[in-house]
Amino acid sequence: MEILSCILLLILVHKPAVFADRHQSGVCRDNREEFGYALVGHDFRTVHADNFGRCFFECSLEERCQSVTYLWNGKECKMNKETKKSRPEDFVENPAATYMENNFRAKKGSTAFVPGSSCKDIVMSGDAQGDGGWTHISRFIMKDQNSMKDQSSTSNSYRTILSNYHSNKQYLLRNGFNQLKNDMGFTQIRFYCFKKETGRVFHIMTNKNTEGADVVKFFTESDTMPTACGSFTRLPDDNSSLAVNCDKWGFRNNNRWGHQSYLNDKRLFSKPIVWQSNHHYQFSRPKSYFCDDISEDMSLGDTWQIFVR
Ligand SMILES: *[C@@H]1O[C@H](CO)[C@@H](O)[C@H](O)[C@H]1NC(C)=O
Repeated sequence: MEILSCILLLILVHKPAVFADRHQSGVCRDNREEFGYALVGHDFRTVHADNFGRCFFECSLEERCQSVTYLWNGKECKMNKETKKSRPEDFVENPAATYMENNFRAKKGSTAFVPGSSCKDIVMSGDAQGDGGWTHISRFIMKDQNSMKDQSSTSNSYRTILSNYHSNKQYLLRNGFNQLKNDMGFTQIRFYCFKKETGRVFHIMTNKNTEGADVVKFFTESDTMPTACGSFTRLPDDNSSLAVNCDKWGFRNNNRWGHQSYLNDKRLFSKPIVWQSNHHYQFSRPKSYFCDDISEDMSLGDTWQIFVR
């Protein structure tokens, strides 16, 4: 999550250009790190970085830095002059590495690094469209049998959450989420989960319409439980029961997000989506990790993620 804080820092540094653009080009600020991958043989410099966020930050300050490969073991930050798109043959799996592109980079062939305009160029050229420009804000991954006991990072300050990049349990509370919305201007939330036992993927994003906007409001500032049907779109890999039964969501009302008894600070993780006694989405408490089910059974690799853009 520290990446996000770095990006925020960049926004502060280049405030006029980026903020002027913020409604059209949310994509610019958003990068996605790719765990388990490395681009090899194209680094122009290696620096020591205590964490991935620091590594990305170093890269974002350099005109020619196109991407980074962070090697977790040695805390080495490889600053690359190429990307996985320009050198796909050298983009390889490496479980101890993380790769990420620098969306603030100068375009190849351009002479000056002007954040505002290069940002716009990137959007125009479709360069950043690969992953849709989503920013990761929360996750839980069943990495080993003890993951459920991992220490959680819970705060109302998004800076605190963001600086706990390594945390396997990130809970940004509602006021902090609202602050993030105000500072970054995100308009959509994406929910993902997969549980091996049920074998179903739940994957939806809120729509860019009034219904979708009401959902964002519910998770940031309002207590009105928003209408479910019409507020979201199923993503291609979704094969959950939950996503095709929006009319059943809600407690006590039908066709609603949320649960009347959980209109609290943790609602993004605690019963944001419930279909009573059948299928829930939740990853907030030691034993309550539900993904289109209400089973307490967990398997390695089970994953929950929330993104915004
Ligand atoms: C749902 O999708 C996942 C991931 O693609 C797949 O492994 C699983 O078999 C699918 N389940 C069903 C019920 O179609």
